[in-house]
Amino acid sequence: MYASFRSIGAYVPSEIRTNQWFIDRMDTTDEWITKRTGINQRRIASKEQLSSDLGVEAAKIAIDRAGIKCDEIDLVLCATISPDYMCMPSTACLIADKLGISDVMAFDISAACTGFIYALSVAKAFVESGMKKNVLIIGAEKLSSIVDYTDRTTCMLFGDGAGAAIISATDNINEAIIDVRCSADGSQKDLLMTPGVESGEKQFMQMKGNETFKIAVRTLTNDVIKILEKNNMSNDDIDLFIPHQANYRIIKAVGDALEFRDEQKVLTVDKYGNTSSASIPMAINDCYESGRLKLGDTMLLDAFGGGLTWGSAIVKFAAK
Ligand SMILES: CC(C)(COP(=O)(O)OP(=O)(O)OC[C@H]1O[C@@H](n2cnc3c(N)ncnc32)[C@H](O)[C@@H]1OP(=O)(O)O)[C@@H](O)C(=O)NCCC(=O)NCCS
Repeated sequence: MYASFRSIGAYVPSEIRTNQWFIDRMDTTDEWITKRTGINQRRIASKEQLSSDLGVEAAKIAIDRAGIKCDEIDLVLCATISPDYMCMPSTACLIADKLGISDVMAFDISAACTGFIYALSVAKAFVESGMKKNVLIIGAEKLSSIVDYTDRTTCMLFGDGAGAAIISATDNINEAIIDVRCSADGSQKDLLMTPGVESGEKQFMQMKGNETFKIAVRTLTNDVIKILEKNNMSNDDIDLFIPHQANYRIIKAVGDALEFRDEQKVLTVDKYGNTSSASIPMAINDCYESGRLKLGDTMLLDAFGGGLTWGSAIVKFAAK
């Protein structure tokens, strides 16, 4: 039994927050933000919209495109660092409930910006072991709820949104997810973190931007080299290189180091900012909806985030 990537969906809230919003409120310029990050705008959820609401909308599209019904889903995984509730109930439980999916396992994955690749890895293992047939994986983030809008070096980086996919069992090896590799290093916990409830600090994201930048470029690049080598593949075997959308300069540095051609590289950070675990499925969905991603295409996913965590995946797009 193999695991196949059956469908993709995404949802972004309607409010667009341009760089001007930050210029009006803090000491910054459009030039500084665009030059250092490549971000022009992000989407911001309304007060009433929580991560589970964003995730539900993305999931509905992915389920519909997979041509399955909610009662055929036997596992729900949600990657998020901005859950509706602190620790419990999980956002996956809330999404399953809102979709009317009951009596199946549902849990969250906390791997920051690598969350979607972690979820993909867990879904693949459950399907390949024969334990589950149709897994709904979601990356859903309302990062605007954990951003410190008094910290001008980080607040303009992040946005809200969600992406979802259905991972299904298949006996056709040509449809199989080729490989997923994930890693972690907790010794670097201070680079990107939200303080704990006992810390006395507010639960806002904190980041050592400069150090994170350098480690991100190195780690993202090495990870791709390793996964390609392990699978005896080269850049030419990849149709779309879809890295975590954190920052244009990181993506450019990694893309250049790996010598991907422009038509292989996917960039959405300019319009959505960094949406953590949602960024990769949102980018896949953009490619799908614009006709850039087609049945049978091979995607190379690559992410890095707080933990530290990092991971990459080589995935055939096996839409029905
Ligand atoms: C956050 C980031 C854009 C900051 O860029 P940087 O080049 O590292 O900037 P620095 O923090 O060194 O600051 C450089 C200068 O800009 C200033 N600055 C910081 N924020 C500013 C802002 N919003 N507007 C204008 N100036 C600003 C700083 O005060 C500093 O001024 P100084 O040189 O007079 O001291 C960059 O570090 C980055 O992208 N890091 C990775 C972030 C990321 O993607 N993390 C997620 C990974 S999953």
